Amino acid sequence: MCGIVGYTGTTKAARILLDGLERLEYRGYDSAGICVSDGNREHPLQAWKVKGRLQALRDATGNGEQVPGFSGIGHTRWATHGEPNTENAHPHLSGGGKVAVVHNGIIENYQELRQKLEGKGYVFQSETDTETIAHLLNEYDKGDPIDAIVRTVMHLRGSFALGILFEDRPGEVYGVRRDSPLIAAVSDEGAFIASDVPAILPYTRKVTYLDNMEIVCLHKDGLTFYNMDGEPIEKEFTTVSWDVEAAEKGGYAHFMLKEIHEQPKALEDTIRPHIQDGKLVLSELGMTDDEIRGIRRIQMAACGSAWHVCMTAKYIFERLARIPVDVDLASEFRYRDPVLEEGTLLMVVSQSGETADSLAALRYGKAQGMLSLAIVNVVGSSIAREADRVFYTAAGPEIAVATTKAYSAQLAACYMLAMHFGLVRKVMAEEDYLRHITALSRLPEQIEQILQQEARMQWLAGKYANTRDAFFIGRGLDYASVLEGALKLKEISYIHAEAYAAGELKHGTISLIEKGSMVMSVATQHDLLEKEISNMVEVHARGATLLAVTYDGNYAMEDQADFTIYIPKTEDVFYPSLVVVPLQLLAYYVSLARGIDVDKPRNLAKSVTVE
Ligand code: AGP
Repeated sequence: MCGIVGYTGTTKAARILLDGLERLEYRGYDSAGICVSDGNREHPLQAWKVKGRLQALRDATGNGEQVPGFSGIGHTRWATHGEPNTENAHPHLSGGGKVAVVHNGIIENYQELRQKLEGKGYVFQSETDTETIAHLLNEYDKGDPIDAIVRTVMHLRGSFALGILFEDRPGEVYGVRRDSPLIAAVSDEGAFIASDVPAILPYTRKVTYLDNMEIVCLHKDGLTFYNMDGEPIEKEFTTVSWDVEAAEKGGYAHFMLKEIHEQPKALEDTIRPHIQDGKLVLSELGMTDDEIRGIRRIQMAACGSAWHVCMTAKYIFERLARIPVDVDLASEFRYRDPVLEEGTLLMVVSQSGETADSLAALRYGKAQGMLSLAIVNVVGSSIAREADRVFYTAAGPEIAVATTKAYSAQLAACYMLAMHFGLVRKVMAEEDYLRHITALSRLPEQIEQILQQEARMQWLAGKYANTRDAFFIGRGLDYASVLEGALKLKEISYIHAEAYAAGELKHGTISLIEKGSMVMSVATQHDLLEKEISNMVEVHARGATLLAVTYDGNYAMEDQADFTIYIPKTEDVFYPSLVVVPLQLLAYYVSLARGIDVDKPRNLAKSVTVE
């Protein structure tokens, strides 16, 4: 959640830090700060910290122009320990300014560390866990920064990515991580560390991802990496294919709208590389046919929209590959003491690859001896690097807090895996497989067609922007789709929206339906249509305003719904990819109509890297 930027080089640091933090704003934050090292002063480490938005920090530093020094660290904080204020904002300093640190993650044993440090005479200025790190670094700094870092992190339990300055090491910036992401890069202007790629894209595309317990030193000649024994190590660099504008808004009013419109390309880029001569080629996955035939059950775990992908995938793997699937919320999975049998494939789905609960679920499953497969969008992310097998979606950088294109790309990944498994296990007939491949290849253009209805969805959103409660209903795969539709609406419009299996309404919830209640019914599954229509009749009879999403030609819906949205026809199992588009547009335009910051809704962060 927090954003970290570090820099040393030939340009004044403050402006680079501020601009870098701005490109990490999507991570969600409530305070910010920078610290620079200006070796010429009596106290070379100087910090500026503010509560609120980055602009306040720019105002406090004359947009960085008033700040000396060519090396520094910056931070945007998403509060976990201690309320948002300047005292709790990072960087945290110790030893009268001998050391400064910024931190992303959570130190689980910080209270015990704090007591010990207070016993040594340290006086804490904040309520944060991070300040214990600053004092530990000061305590262990005997002149060797690597040794001080190693000795410090050995005392820490929990997750951290750190940016560090030492008073007596002018021109140097240090970084170290465990379980929170940290990248390093170098350009003609100098050397960088950051929580995520967009922060450094204007300067270089060549980055490396620190692995757990690796240390990096940024210095005038570039980068040096160390292991926990203090030995120099080599790191591989990758070239980020995103252009700076790919991480910008590209002319759209919001990242979310841009990313909704990028879905055809996200699907094309995710699907196309895996179709050769009309067949799926998933060789990069590295799963052998024997491994696939050996799967007796799939256990899925994820959070939020990624969990909705898993709920969808359950129907798809069971229908196309005849493999039983269990789905857990990642935050529940490891605490229910699951019975995990031999031959269970653990699948974790995550856009960021850094969601703490999903990473913990992955580690738990691996510790139980399960083969793990991750579906991830961010290359080099923690979940991607720790899973045994990885299927990368190619949605590109997703900046808006509300996921859209990554969700769609994850669905496509699940379709391909289920079809591949079904064919390898000989439970999917070749002709069905080929027919589904053809339908899969058409999804990007069909989404493009649906996007032509954007103005109609904006009009609809204007009519219902003041709805107090919204109910999303569907059966089978449509139920999995309405889970996502409800989350999209509530997370960016703050309207109370709930998704229900349509057949469940009569078991209590229908008591909430009254005149004017907004009900969105999704009806695409041929074998369930009649039952869905009867549920629509039930709510309509009780005065609900009834909206419907169904496929072209199913005009019977007009007899029931007050407003029907039509989507192109496809295979039943692929409808979730088409249904979600009008639901995303509806949520987006309702949020806009309500004057909400669509890309940064309150209380939410793009990547929830704390449990
Ligand atoms: C979805 O719009 C939300 N941003 C949230 O539910 C998200 O899907 C969830 O936090 C999981 O994130 P991940 O895919 O990066 O693991």
